[in-house]
Amino acid sequence: MEESIIQIKEKAKEEIAKVEDLKQLDEIRVKYLGKKGELTAVLKGIGSLAPEERPIIGELVNKVRDELDELIKQNVNILSKKILIEKMKKEKIDVTIPSKKQEIGTLHPINKIIKEVEEIFLGMGYCIADGPEVEKAIYNFDKLNTPIGHPARDLQDTFYINEDIVLRSQTSPVQVRVMEEQKPPIKIICPGKVYRSDSVDATHSPVFHQIEGLVIDKDVSMADLKGTLEMFAKKCLGEKTRIRFRPHHFPFTEPSAEADVSCFVCGGKGCKVCKGEGWIELLGCGMVHPNVLRGCKINPDEYSGFAFGFGVERIAMAKYGIDDMRLLYENDVRFLKQF
Ligand code: DAH
Repeated sequence: MEESIIQIKEKAKEEIAKVEDLKQLDEIRVKYLGKKGELTAVLKGIGSLAPEERPIIGELVNKVRDELDELIKQNVNILSKKILIEKMKKEKIDVTIPSKKQEIGTLHPINKIIKEVEEIFLGMGYCIADGPEVEKAIYNFDKLNTPIGHPARDLQDTFYINEDIVLRSQTSPVQVRVMEEQKPPIKIICPGKVYRSDSVDATHSPVFHQIEGLVIDKDVSMADLKGTLEMFAKKCLGEKTRIRFRPHHFPFTEPSAEADVSCFVCGGKGCKVCKGEGWIELLGCGMVHPNVLRGCKINPDEYSGFAFGFGVERIAMAKYGIDDMRLLYENDVRFLKQF
């Protein structure tokens, strides 16, 4: 009996020595020390022994039990440490490996132009105003001296949400909103999106960007408008830029004009960018119509002002030599990265 107990012990020790993971170790514990384990079986059989043998065998079994138990515990510790060390080795971070390159984006050319224009006008003492893109027809048209029946209100040109609400077709309604809220002197620009029922081609898009400008004060004249726009053109397009005015019509200004700038690529000689003209059409402008002032409760005998509005895409395209507007909206990073 004693011999077989010793054999069990040696066998268990041998197995423990070979163990490679905690699961195997636990299996061994169950196999020898568990409820149905080999040593436990010996203890259970103790009743069939002679009474004088029982305490001797009992003591031996308990000793072996304790010994094996201790051995298993020691091995649990050793194994756990080994596993931890291996895990740490595997998960080791080499801080000297170069990191993945982070791609840094750039401002979209449209936003770049808007920022540049904002800087120029902020420098001239203007504030930046904002207005809704979903706008009341009254603000987009009526209050801008464009009554029902005017061709600009045509269903084919403007997106109507319903009879009274439109997607603004110009940033000019912001003029009215500002004049209704603020007392003169007023000096604002307003960049934003506008919507027209145009199909997409190289020079048209149903959504594009405009920047509106408005100045209202005492004794504001056409000369102020011209000086302001000339200053702006030089800062935005280069010091050599010249500006010229052509008579035009807008319902909300009187007189109205369109302003052209000398081609900043050829200087006015005529090239591909200006299509041989020497001039590039820049914007619409004029002196704010007395009807518009009156509608905003500003007395036209006391105050006068000028306004202007231009397309941002047009400037971006001219400035960067982009010949197809669609490139601006396709979000191809190879294109956008160039600016
Ligand atoms: N809103 C005009 C357009 O979209 C541009 C414009 C012309 C704005 C004359 C003005 C202005 O403020 O005075 O074509």
